[in-house]
Amino acid sequence: MKVIVCDNYDEVSEKATQLVEAQILENDHSVLGLATGSTPLGLYERLVEGVTLRGIAYKNVCTINLDEYLGLEKEHPESYRTFMSVNLFDKIDISTENTYIPDGTFDTAEEECLRYEQVIDSVGPIDLQILGIGKNGHIGFNEPGTDSKSLTHVVELVASTRESNARFFPSIDEVPTYAITMGIKSILKSKKIILMAAGKNKAEAVKTLLSKDVNESFPASILWNHDNVTLIVDRDAYELVKS
Ligand code: GLP
Repeated sequence: MKVIVCDNYDEVSEKATQLVEAQILENDHSVLGLATGSTPLGLYERLVEGVTLRGIAYKNVCTINLDEYLGLEKEHPESYRTFMSVNLFDKIDISTENTYIPDGTFDTAEEECLRYEQVIDSVGPIDLQILGIGKNGHIGFNEPGTDSKSLTHVVELVASTRESNARFFPSIDEVPTYAITMGIKSILKSKKIILMAAGKNKAEAVKTLLSKDVNESFPASILWNHDNVTLIVDRDAYELVKS
């Protein structure tokens, strides 16, 4: 795992932007794996700017998102489909049919999981996967204890994740209890992975990750089994790591 320590969140976003845009310039048919959450917002803002400022074209790019809440309509203000449309897809020249996000309204979610894994394999492999990290080490919605060989699956969100995400909903009761997420093995199929972490509230998670204890009780640690991972972290999130 390559570790890049940045001064602040803006620099984390800047560094990630450079790597994503380099990927697209290398291959304009790249497949990007995308994440939601607050962490990649600065990256998405810069990718939008890159269309006009740097002439980056998304016409042939495909995107595959990590996860989606179960039970939210695509149009729900807090669905991850809406998040991606508002923060990125509606502002760049990407075709909606090239953007893949699990369908959280599927009658039989297990069938949707199988279909989605086939998307990952047929549209992918993902060239570059963007990840954030949960305070408990979750990646996507792979909560502690998730099998490292897991493919796309339905997950029951743990209380701490629902509490963290409650800030986006009118009340915690409205945060969905279940989600569909790419599994750990699905994520590891990506050719390259960028894990972004910023802020003091991620410092414990970054410290645990960099202790190199590979353990399913801390899902992000499984990334040590992949040979092309770059952690981009700011000083606040890095502050508990002993140098
Ligand atoms: C969410 C998402 C993850 C994200 C994580 C951290 O639950 N499913 O993909 O990485 O939480 O979110 P944030 O970036 O807002 O801290």
